[in-house]
Amino acid sequence: MAHLESRKHISPDSGFPITLHPKFSDKIKDHAPPEPPRTEIFPGKDRAAFADPEKRALLSAAKRTDLTESIGTVLDDVQLSTLTPEQLDELALLVNERGVVFFRDQDLTTDKQVELFEHYGILDKHPAQKDVKHVIIRGSRENHREILKYTPWPSGDFHADTSFEINPPSYSMLRMEEHPDVGGDTAWVSSYGLYDTLSKAMQKFVDGLHAVHTSRLQYDTILDLWNVGPNRPPIDSHHPAVRTHPVTGLKALNINPGFTTGFAELNKVESDKLLDFFQYHIHSADDHYVRWKWTVGSVAMWDNRCVVHRVIPGRYEGNRRGIRTTVFGEKPYFDPTSESRYEREEKFKEQGQNDGELQEKLDEQKGTPSSSSEPEGNKAVPMTPTRS
Ligand SMILES: [Fe+2]
Repeated sequence: MAHLESRKHISPDSGFPITLHPKFSDKIKDHAPPEPPRTEIFPGKDRAAFADPEKRALLSAAKRTDLTESIGTVLDDVQLSTLTPEQLDELALLVNERGVVFFRDQDLTTDKQVELFEHYGILDKHPAQKDVKHVIIRGSRENHREILKYTPWPSGDFHADTSFEINPPSYSMLRMEEHPDVGGDTAWVSSYGLYDTLSKAMQKFVDGLHAVHTSRLQYDTILDLWNVGPNRPPIDSHHPAVRTHPVTGLKALNINPGFTTGFAELNKVESDKLLDFFQYHIHSADDHYVRWKWTVGSVAMWDNRCVVHRVIPGRYEGNRRGIRTTVFGEKPYFDPTSESRYEREEKFKEQGQNDGELQEKLDEQKGTPSSSSEPEGNKAVPMTPTRS
C-alpha cells in the first residue's frame, strides 16, 4: 500500500482514511479555523417519539393538505407561534412522515423561531454561521453550471443540510422574510421514496455501503467564493448509505450530490459511476418530489434524515432572505432489520386484509353482518409503528 499522508487522517466516526484537500488557493491554505473539529454528541430522544401517533392536538387545530402522495403537507389555519409543546411534538412526527411541512402567512419572529426550535433539541451551527442561533439563507442567482468549472462543490445541487457532520441536523426550519414574486423556489425529494424505487438487488447492495459525506468542497468554496472564514476544519464522515429513521423505523437513502463524494468500500471508478447513477436517480424522482413557491411569511420545516432539497437557481430580481434554524440529530445508523416504506405499506395492507377476513368469519359465526364494508387494507396506512 502506498505511503500516503492522507491515510493518517481518519474521520473521527468511521475508521476509514480520507483524502487531504488540495489547498486550491492561499485564502484556503492560510485560513486557520477558530474552532476545533467536532466530536460526536448524543442528543436527547427525538421529540416526535413523544407524539400521539394520531396527532390529534395538532390536526384538530389545523387544516391538513397533502401536496403529493409521497412527500409534502401544508398546514393552514394555524400559527406556529401558538403551538403547544404537545402540538410541536406532533408536528415533528408529521415531518418525520411527510418529509416537509409548509405554513403560509406566519407571524413568527426570529426570536420566536429560535425559541420554538429549541423545543426540538440543541441548536446546530453551520460551518459558515457567525450568529449563534440561526443562519441567513439567501437564494442564488449564480450560474451554477458555469461556477462548477472553477469550484468542485456543486452548491446548487440536492443535499441534506450539512450531512457531512458526525451528527448531521435532524430538523431544519426556514422562514422567508424577503422574497421575489417569482423564482427562488425550493424542491424536496423523499429519501424514503428514493430507497423504495431502487430494485431489490440495488437495495441489497447499497444497504452494505458507507457514503463519504465531505465538507471539504464546501469549505473551499466558503473561503474562495463566499469570502467567509469557516468556523471549523473540514470533515469527512463515512455514514451508512442507507440510514434507519429513529422514529419511523424506515429506511432512507443517505446519499446526496451536494456532499457525497464516494463510497468507502468501492474503488474510485466504481464509486464515481454509482454517484452518477444516484444523481440521476434523485433528479428523476418526480414521483417523490415536491416544489414550494415561497411568499414572505411562509415557513417550511423538514427532516434531513428522510429528504434532500435544493433551491432552484434563477435569474430573478429582488432580495431573497430566509432565517434557518437547525438542531443536531443522532449519528446516522443502519439497522438491517428495519424496513422500507413500501414494505411497511404492503405489510399493513396484508395485515388489514387478514384482520378483515378474520372479522368477517367471526361475524358469520355470530350471524351478524360484517362490521366494516371496507377492508382495513384500503384504509390509510400508518407510518409509525404503534408505540406502547
Ligand atoms: Fe439546505
